[in-house]
Amino acid sequence: MKFFLDTADVIVIEKFVSTGIVDGVTTNPSLLCKQGKPPVIIIKKICAILSGKPVSVQVTEHDVDAVYKQAKKIASIAENVVVKIPCDIRYYNVIKKLAKEGVKINATLVFSVAQGICMCKLGVAYISPFIGRIDDIAECGMELVEDLRRALDLYKFKTEILAASIRSVDHVKESILAGADIGTVPPSIFEKMLHHPLTEEGMKRFNKDWKKLNIDMFP
Ligand code: E4P
Repeated sequence: MKFFLDTADVIVIEKFVSTGIVDGVTTNPSLLCKQGKPPVIIIKKICAILSGKPVSVQVTEHDVDAVYKQAKKIASIAENVVVKIPCDIRYYNVIKKLAKEGVKINATLVFSVAQGICMCKLGVAYISPFIGRIDDIAECGMELVEDLRRALDLYKFKTEILAASIRSVDHVKESILAGADIGTVPPSIFEKMLHHPLTEEGMKRFNKDWKKLNIDMFP
């Protein structure tokens, strides 16, 4: 199971990359907008920090030809850029063409098994089912991840399932158990998942007992 960070905040990315467990980053127009700086500069910085690991950057154009041109430009920002394209019917041909040309694609806004399989058939590298947004409409986002896992295994697709729209530590746990290849985790959840009160309490207790020995050097 790989962990991506779902943020465009360079400081936060630097902090968590230093833990050694970050395998990539996903951004989207909303996350880049929050940074209030020119997006290309931010993306270049993130790509450099991630040194070779995938960084998803979403297209913002709508017209099919413009999406194709923009995708090519985004892909040329850095060698580790993955182009995120919504899995909308209008972009199927563009996705297929780009995938054939070797552009790595993350098909985003996946809300059904059928959409996921269609994207696999077009040759994308990743599909992103949005767990939280499905939960928001009172359905079960995790079920989609489980179903996609079964479907991709059944038909032997190599596309990776990137569990997105993660809103809790429980979502992370469930994604791991559902067989997602990757979970993209917002920084606030990432912070929480790295801590456990019993680990901290346990360390304190061991430390307190050890101090009772009153020795300077060990071993
Ligand atoms: C994934 O690639 C998206 O950037 C992200 O997970 C969307 O999450 P949200 O539904 O919390 O906006």
